[in-house]
Amino acid sequence: MSCHPKNYTNLVSDYRDKSSSAAKIFRRGENMCGIVGYIGSKNATDILLEGLGKLEYRGYDSAGIAVIKDNSIQVEKRKGRLAVLKESLEDNHVEGNVGIGHTRWATHGEPSDVNSHPHLNNEHTVAVVHNGIIENYLSLRQELTEKGYTFKSETDTEVLPFLIDYYYEGDLVEAVKKTISRLEGAYALGIIHKHHPDMLIAVRKDSPLVIGVGEGENFIASDIPAILNYTRQVYLIDNNEMAVLTNDSVEIMKTDGTKVDKEIYNVEWDVEAAEKGGYAHFMLKEIHEQPKAVKDTLSPRVDKDGMVNIKDLKLDEDYIKRINKVYMVACGTAYHAGLIGKAFIEKYANIPVVADIASEFRYANPFIDENTLMIVVSQSGETADTLAALRLAKEKGAKVLAVTNVVGSSIARESDYVFYTWAGPEIAVASTKAYTTQIIGLALISLDMALKRGTIDEIKVKEIVGQIWKLSDKIEMILNREEEIKDMANEIHTSEDIFYIGRGLDYYLALEGSLKLKEISYIHSEAMAAGELKHGTLALIDKKTPVIAIATQDSLYDKMLSNIKEVKARGAYVIGVAKETNKEIEEIVDKVIYIPEVMDELATPIAVVPLQMLAYYVALNRGCDIDKPRNLAKSVTVE
Ligand code: F6R
Repeated sequence: MSCHPKNYTNLVSDYRDKSSSAAKIFRRGENMCGIVGYIGSKNATDILLEGLGKLEYRGYDSAGIAVIKDNSIQVEKRKGRLAVLKESLEDNHVEGNVGIGHTRWATHGEPSDVNSHPHLNNEHTVAVVHNGIIENYLSLRQELTEKGYTFKSETDTEVLPFLIDYYYEGDLVEAVKKTISRLEGAYALGIIHKHHPDMLIAVRKDSPLVIGVGEGENFIASDIPAILNYTRQVYLIDNNEMAVLTNDSVEIMKTDGTKVDKEIYNVEWDVEAAEKGGYAHFMLKEIHEQPKAVKDTLSPRVDKDGMVNIKDLKLDEDYIKRINKVYMVACGTAYHAGLIGKAFIEKYANIPVVADIASEFRYANPFIDENTLMIVVSQSGETADTLAALRLAKEKGAKVLAVTNVVGSSIARESDYVFYTWAGPEIAVASTKAYTTQIIGLALISLDMALKRGTIDEIKVKEIVGQIWKLSDKIEMILNREEEIKDMANEIHTSEDIFYIGRGLDYYLALEGSLKLKEISYIHSEAMAAGELKHGTLALIDKKTPVIAIATQDSLYDKMLSNIKEVKARGAYVIGVAKETNKEIEEIVDKVIYIPEVMDELATPIAVVPLQMLAYYVALNRGCDIDKPRNLAKSVTVE
């Protein structure tokens, strides 16, 4: 059974073929924030708000619009979800026939009104929305400050209206071209200028952008759903291309000015499917986003010579040397990632780590003093129990380091140090890409701590970082085995109980695999340390009971094979997970999922992927509401 809606089959295979234009649009769907723009004769505000609503899945910590009316640019932008912007527009009417809009997922600067897009120059003649990252913004900011420009926000984007203003001598297209020639990084831009109310400019490099062609009106957007209610005719803009839109024309050129002839693409799919980038569910999309999420989290933290560099975390060296205990505190999946972090820190930084569930930690009597570091792990940064644990630890004198995915979240704001996972917004309730990136973050933190404490040498760090680099490709290899995993899901989806077993890190992974299955398929499941089975739980293993046996740890492989034999002897149906070099497992189990060869400590972020997919396809077979499982919420802000 295909999980992709019918009309998407071609698109998704295109998407995997990196050469197609359609592919690029959706491949880049992971690059968060959303932009939209309109030029025509209708009220731009309504169209922009509708488009932003369709893009909110790309980011949702602030939103804004800018519209030209009577020779001036009117702007409204607000921290919070789109609803906040809509409410404030009820009091402050903004209308006109040309405009741009943005929904943001903060990267540079916390979510706030002033950091929201659109950004304008000091005279409010130019407005810009941007999706992506301007890597050289600091030097540009300095240069522009020296020229007399005053920055209001902490964003990288604000350099753009200033640069356009600086180069503007009456020709907006020329000013934009000159601006682009100064930029390093990724960007999809929408630009309007009050002296050119009949023009909307769009530019793309490494961030998605489409142009919608209407009758007497034209559109720009980060993703097709934003404009699909108005037109199905789109141009898929490629890297280093820009487009000049008027009511009646779309001119596409390279950023060096060479004209580009493009074919119009006729969109045949429906809006809801398009938001998910062609996948049937956000969960499946997010599983597939993991190679990129891992790369995005890692690449800003590694120097050219392969050394870990998390200096922006500003972990004080004397303090790190002094620490004699770490508490690793989180809930659910984030806690499971924390368990892997515990193993890293103990092994490399040589500090004892107590991992605890936040709701338990709060009511225990933790031994905390000024030599204790607490690491809290939280995708949302808003989990009530984790936040309360953090406050308790601070009260008792510990410093707190947060590993979180949401810039400016409560946990990020209240912690002493913050490591952001750059996984992009996670929409599905079941956490997937947050988990893998949390492990990457914790591994890097452990290496940095180990270097500061002198418990590791640089050569070893480079070797481990080298292996972390390769994770992304290895995850991709697993993603290509989706069909095998679907077959396995078909075998077990009618079961009432499914067990997950493992030893060492594989036990921690078993906890995560089991949780994923429970929450989305509603099948009862238990994760056990494999060596503990015979102390009670083995009594539950019966003929055909499915057991997922994880055996990725070389050091525990033989022991694990013995445990698998124990459950096989009771008639269990066993699916093994092992490294592709460890083939003996084939002799014992019913099915096996192989993962590429990797050092033991880094097996988890690869081996979790087939477990996520297994849970997904089991739930799909059972017809469950995968993205919104019953009784659960994405952000648990109550105790
Ligand atoms: C499971 C899941 C939850 C969260 C937990 C913590 O798939 O998503 O177990 O991991 O509620 O949430 P955060 O990470 O936002 O603190």
